[in-house]
Amino acid sequence: MYQSDLLAGRTFLVTGGGTGLGRAMAMRYAELGATIAICGRRTAPLEATCADIAAAGGKAHWVSTDVRDMEAVEAAIVELEAKTGPIDGLVNNAAGNFLCASEDLSPGAFDSVVKIVLYGTFNCTQALGKRWIERDTQGAVINIVTTYAWMGSAFVLPSAAAKAGVLAMTRSLAVEWATYGIRLNAIAPGPIPTEGAFSRLMAGGMEKEALARIPAGRFGRPDELADLAVYLMSPAAQWVTGEVVTLDGAEWLKSGQEFSGFTSHPRANVKAVLNSMRPKKK
Ligand code: HXC
Ligand code: NAP
Repeated sequence: MYQSDLLAGRTFLVTGGGTGLGRAMAMRYAELGATIAICGRRTAPLEATCADIAAAGGKAHWVSTDVRDMEAVEAAIVELEAKTGPIDGLVNNAAGNFLCASEDLSPGAFDSVVKIVLYGTFNCTQALGKRWIERDTQGAVINIVTTYAWMGSAFVLPSAAAKAGVLAMTRSLAVEWATYGIRLNAIAPGPIPTEGAFSRLMAGGMEKEALARIPAGRFGRPDELADLAVYLMSPAAQWVTGEVVTLDGAEWLKSGQEFSGFTSHPRANVKAVLNSMRPKKK
């Protein structure tokens, strides 16, 4: 659906780009001609993703860094730009999450997730935003949140609070930095199977329950997220800013709608019950 050189001449940093959804976005961007920079803490997935991009004919560089640490982020960007040239797009994808009853969270647990998601997003956004303002670059940022950024969610409190903060950051900066031509948008995926997310969040029979909550009847796919992330980085999205695009097969709408639970039952049964309630014709 996209021209093969759509992103030629562009350079994007994808945080957490060595695994899961970050990797999918990095690979797709590279396939469409962008030069890719990725970061994360573990070197092995970063190396592997860059090798796969190179094997497919793309250009990618990595650096190991912890997005919680502003100084480390600054150093990483200097190191990456020395290899890639100026970065003009950022995907804040790195995240931490786990299931835990909120009363059992240790200070370190809350701190860890909020620092990765909220501080990490701020650190990378400010480090590149400053450069873009100075260089008069029309940069673009995509923040990967999730639908509970506005709904909230039990048992993932640090993530919910941090993602809500990231959404507020997206909307705040979209207005503040529009004058510099910098765009910020968010993508809110529902469940998309990745090792990182599903190993931490889908214990026991939860995967089946999660699937049953999705009106579209299936989980999302990384390539669907990647194609949306391409659009938001592309020139076609020049006037799209401050937006959050949901990609969840209508999952969150269903959970908030009084009668939407009917969609979990076979439609013929639902119709039979509804019809049985209709007033009889006189
Ligand atoms: C309670 C936990 C815990 C758990 C860790 N902690 N796991 N507490 N339940 N399951 C606590 C530790 O005891 C410690 O607190 C603190 O958290 C930090 O743990 P460390 O292991 O020292 O930290 P670190 O190595 O920095 O690891 C960060 C992490 C880990 C967030 C805990 O899970 C991680 O590296 N995650 C990165 C990848 C990830 O989470 N991917 C999934 C994103 S999916 P104390 O107080 O003892 O020091 C996602 C999807 C959302 O966001 C939407 C789905 C639909
Ligand atoms: P993932 O593979 O675990 O991705 C998280 C990435 O972040 C990893 O590459 C991890 O690498 C990196 N990371 C974590 N802490 C970091 C830190 N301190 N510094 C630098 N990098 C760090 O999980 P995923 O499913 O692809 O998630 C990607 C994004 O999608 C996240 O923002 C997540 O919240 C969002 N999301 C996912 C789903 C889903 O169902 N999969 C749904 C909604 C939203 P290291 O551990 O090596 O650092």
